[in-house]
Amino acid sequence: MADENKSRPASGPPVFDDDFRWALGDLFAWRRDVRRFLSDPVDCAVIDGLISTATLAPSVGNSQPWRFVTIDAPERRAAVRANFEAANAEALGDYGGEQARLYATLKLSGLDQAPVHLAIFADINTRDGHGLGKKTMPETLAYSVVGAVNTLWLAARAEGIGVGWVSILDPVQINSVLDVPEDWLLVAYLCIGYPQEEHIDPELERHGWQDRLPADTITIRR
Ligand SMILES: Cc1cc2nc3c(=O)[nH]c(=O)nc-3n(C[C@H](O)[C@H](O)[C@H](O)COP(=O)(O)O)c2cc1C
Repeated sequence: MADENKSRPASGPPVFDDDFRWALGDLFAWRRDVRRFLSDPVDCAVIDGLISTATLAPSVGNSQPWRFVTIDAPERRAAVRANFEAANAEALGDYGGEQARLYATLKLSGLDQAPVHLAIFADINTRDGHGLGKKTMPETLAYSVVGAVNTLWLAARAEGIGVGWVSILDPVQINSVLDVPEDWLLVAYLCIGYPQEEHIDPELERHGWQDRLPADTITIRR
């Protein structure tokens, strides 16, 4: 897909028809956070293509602050898993009673199974984009990277590949484990691979942790 992105003809904008819109709706509805992966490997070229697609995302000042790190070294992966286990145990301690019992049953990462680990950082001191937008809303650098993550997530799903976002981590330690610059901000640590199962509903809803919110509770008019 990487080359495909570069070689798209500039002859004119495409026309998206009803069939496309329907399929796109399916893509949004069937994107899932995946924590259970098959052991089948994912071709490196496919991951490169997903990264290339992710870079089509919008970014403040066109700063493109996303930095992608693939983690293959077993000792680095083990350190990330240990980091998750510690953070997750600490998070469990914040809950009590039935909520603690339920939290302990949730599977909150696929770090143990995912064939691909991909960390995505924001280079918040990048000079690209020449600071446009940064003065008033410096957080837009990180928002730009979130947009790239979401683009990658949807593109992966379109290829039948599952993505799971792991945030139960100490981000500062992750910079050190991955030996990346201290001022890169960890935005997402992704587990990627072919999913064991497909669902139309979020796992946390299915397991009674959090339902989706009704539309009338999230929109207001002024
Ligand atoms: C910023 C962010 C961080 C997340 N971190 C975690 C995580 O650490 N562990 C986890 O199981 N899911 C994590 N998720 C996935 C959410 O739990 C999931 O998106 C949500 O439950 C809705 O499910 P769905 O993505 O399948 O629609 C994260 C999602 C986002 C957007």
